[in-house]
Amino acid sequence: MAEGISFDIVPAEKITIQEFLALGGFGYVYKGKHEEWGITVAVKVLQEPTGKHNQQDLIKEAKIMNDVRFDYILRLYGIYQKPEELGFRLGLVMEYMENGSLFSVTRHIRPLPRTLQFRILYEVALGMNYLHGLKPPVLHLDLKPSNILLDESFHVKLTDFGLSEWKKFSTRTKSSPSSLIGGTWPYMPPEAFGNLNYKPDEAYDNYSYGILMWSVLTGEEPYSNVLQFGSAITCLVQEGQRPDLSILPKDLPTEMNDLMQQCWSQDIGCRPHFRDCICQIREIFDFEVYKSEIQQDVRIVQDALSGKESSLESSDCCHHNKDLQHLERADDSDHCSGAASSSSCVQDLSEEDENKQIIEKMSNVEGVLDLLAESKVIKGAEYDVLKHRVVRSNTVQTTLNPMVKTAANIVGAFYDLFKNNPLE
Ligand SMILES: Nc1ncnc2c1ncn2[C@@H]1O[C@H](COP(=O)(O)OP(=O)(O)OP(=O)(O)O)[C@@H](O)[C@H]1O
Ligand SMILES: [Mg+2]
Repeated sequence: MAEGISFDIVPAEKITIQEFLALGGFGYVYKGKHEEWGITVAVKVLQEPTGKHNQQDLIKEAKIMNDVRFDYILRLYGIYQKPEELGFRLGLVMEYMENGSLFSVTRHIRPLPRTLQFRILYEVALGMNYLHGLKPPVLHLDLKPSNILLDESFHVKLTDFGLSEWKKFSTRTKSSPSSLIGGTWPYMPPEAFGNLNYKPDEAYDNYSYGILMWSVLTGEEPYSNVLQFGSAITCLVQEGQRPDLSILPKDLPTEMNDLMQQCWSQDIGCRPHFRDCICQIREIFDFEVYKSEIQQDVRIVQDALSGKESSLESSDCCHHNKDLQHLERADDSDHCSGAASSSSCVQDLSEEDENKQIIEKMSNVEGVLDLLAESKVIKGAEYDVLKHRVVRSNTVQTTLNPMVKTAANIVGAFYDLFKNNPLE
């Protein structure tokens, strides 16, 4: 360990790896058990071994994360270390979060009940406010759904902040140009693009928070139709383009919409501090008043995630969103109508509409992947890898999409045929 750093090194043999969870930007994430401590931990292992010098830099950086203790910040226990021929394979040993990330949860439940959306955004703001309030401030610089982890009751813990050295060793550095600047491009502010001397400050995180708000409130990923990141994209963001406002729920309180747009403002000075976000969200939504509704929604989402999806498919959470009358604008259109997944709070579809939707989903690779995940043919971790590393690639899109579309047309034709001429 580097001189003067009293930070736990956790030798690989102390941890029994139990389950592969995901392939993320850093490398592989596993669920494991620390045999001496007797607790379940998450271990994030870099894909390649590192030399001694780099190892010290990585440890120094992880120590900053370890020093931060707050309710809404993930606890880092130590550095995983496995000696190998070419050096040490390092990793982070962290608190294990039962419900994974906001990203993995919204893959199954989209959109989340309104109460949980607001509570998650509120708790993210609390965590960020704490980081920015430290002396010197700790910047996150990669605030996005996969870095917002959720415990068994869907309370938030932020992770992966201030790890720029680690990120140099991440898988993403090799696969995406955005990583040269540090973050994940849809969440990066315009000022981070096109300026070689750019030095990020707190306003970077405030912008990311605005994009995150859009993602949480719509249940979608920003700019999901963009296949490849490039300079043309950064220009559009610099010109002021932002995620699609038209798909926000019609009954979203105007104040929430305003806050989101202030956060992603082009003008850094107009972006509110996290302490202001906290106050504003509290004014929009009184968490005390809705305590029992929140608990009820937590149970609904827990049940849905553990396979009892029918509870969410019932219109419980749609009704509930409508219960929040003081939050609604005059236009009381159904918040749930934008739901894309079968496990979301869906509208009452006729069987025929439902079949048509399925056929429609089958007409592109991403839709097929979603269907396979919904029917549990593909598991969570495999799905994450396919969705983020494979399906988005140009080659897959140009090769497979036309084939899948043809197949969907054939299925559609069969469906029409049998519907009109039912076989005896
Ligand atoms: N402590 C944890 N407990 C439970 N699941 C976790 C934990 N940390 C990460 N995960 C899971 O692993 C996934 C990948 O996380 P990881 O941080 O490696 O990649 P990423 O967030 O997609 O990219 P980045 O490297 O930019 O942070 C998360 O989406 C989450 O589902
Ligand atoms: Mg992460």
